[in-house]
Amino acid sequence: MSQEQWKSKIGFIFAAAGSAIGLGAIWKFPYVAGTGGGGAFLLIFLLFTLFLGAPLLIGEFLIGRKTKGDAITTYQRIAPNSSWGIVGIIGVVTCFILLSFYSVVGGWIIIYLFEALTGGLTGLSQDQYGMLFGEIIANPLPTLLAQLTFVLLTIIVVAKGVQKGIENASKIMMPALFILFLLIVIRSLSLDGASEGVKFLFVPDFTKLTSETILIALGQAFFTLSLGASAMVTYASYLPKTQNLPRSALSIVLMNIVIAILAGLAIFPGVFSFGLEPNAGPVLIFAVLPAVFSQMGFGMLFFIAFLILFLFAALTSAFSMIEIIVAAMTKKDKSKRKKYTWTIGILIFIVGIPSCLSYGVMSDVLVFDKTIFDLFDYAVSNVLMPLGALLISIFIPLKLSKSELFEEIRLGSHSGKMFFNVWYYLLKYFTPVAIIIVFMDALGLIDKIFG
Ligand code: PHE
Repeated sequence: MSQEQWKSKIGFIFAAAGSAIGLGAIWKFPYVAGTGGGGAFLLIFLLFTLFLGAPLLIGEFLIGRKTKGDAITTYQRIAPNSSWGIVGIIGVVTCFILLSFYSVVGGWIIIYLFEALTGGLTGLSQDQYGMLFGEIIANPLPTLLAQLTFVLLTIIVVAKGVQKGIENASKIMMPALFILFLLIVIRSLSLDGASEGVKFLFVPDFTKLTSETILIALGQAFFTLSLGASAMVTYASYLPKTQNLPRSALSIVLMNIVIAILAGLAIFPGVFSFGLEPNAGPVLIFAVLPAVFSQMGFGMLFFIAFLILFLFAALTSAFSMIEIIVAAMTKKDKSKRKKYTWTIGILIFIVGIPSCLSYGVMSDVLVFDKTIFDLFDYAVSNVLMPLGALLISIFIPLKLSKSELFEEIRLGSHSGKMFFNVWYYLLKYFTPVAIIIVFMDALGLIDKIFG
């Protein structure tokens, strides 16, 4: 694919934003913020996103565009005869496990879409939505079928290599998602008792912060920006040298933050107004949103529109996950693209089956006290992605000289020395140190050493 290019500068931004904006901002952010205590979590998440996520995103873009390599080759080209390729392998493994449970949630969207279209969601009371959803996802056959459908949609698009066709669709879908979110937020803010939800999201209560929630906020910052898995490295490898990398990165960071906050504002007022619990976990958005929509004129119509856009956002992220695996595996023989995409996709579906059943027949199967779904989610978000991010932040300043980096960043942008230095030092010192501290803290080591 190295000779392939995005169709336009804005096309790349949409593709990379498409990878970034997905279940992470819309589905995961509200539920981890809900479990993590609201405002304090949001604040920490924002700090991590701005000071660790943004520099790292620029970094991933930079090495991807510089080497024009896939996730694994990039590291090998910059550091030949070293074992740094392992960073890319971690990325490939991360994306594999990630898509295995991501597709479960993608399936839930498809099921809801089906239910909404066939009238299964009309005329319920607020708490019935949560119950209905619990019943739906406990049912193995439809959920597996929906998960398979999600995987198949991903495979078909990526096997054809037509993600670039998606650029065009993104130009309409992304702004539409944004506008629809605004509408939902307006409605949810006018619910009785909405202010409780707003307070929950924006007023930090630091007593709720634990070492674990800080780690989750860190993982969330990387998850939403698709960082640490070399997905952004791969996407940037299809870029011309004229792309302004810092500007692209910052606009993606900003869009992501806006969507996450809108998702929070769409959900938490409803949670408090309907007397639900903010810490309901992965099912939160599915239990709350239909109830909010049911309070709107033409609610079902808007809900269907929302689900379509939500599905689209999830799919564009899923494309990038499978793309990085396929790109890394087909570097020598592009003609195998189709075969690899199908094989990998089907394998991912099979590995994802236990995650799907975690909400039904396998809900009692616990490993480290977690269901398989939660375990995979935890491993990807809170271990693999921060680990990948740590290694990338060490790799870049170690293997590329400051002047090389400055030269590369200036291609397509007019970044001054000052901006460059801020970026460079954040990436070189702040990012690895912060990740190590958060890891150590979560393992209880900080208390042991200093306590
Ligand atoms: N950023 C995506 C989301 O928020 C998830 C993702 C992670 C995609 C890593 C690709 C690689 O949904």
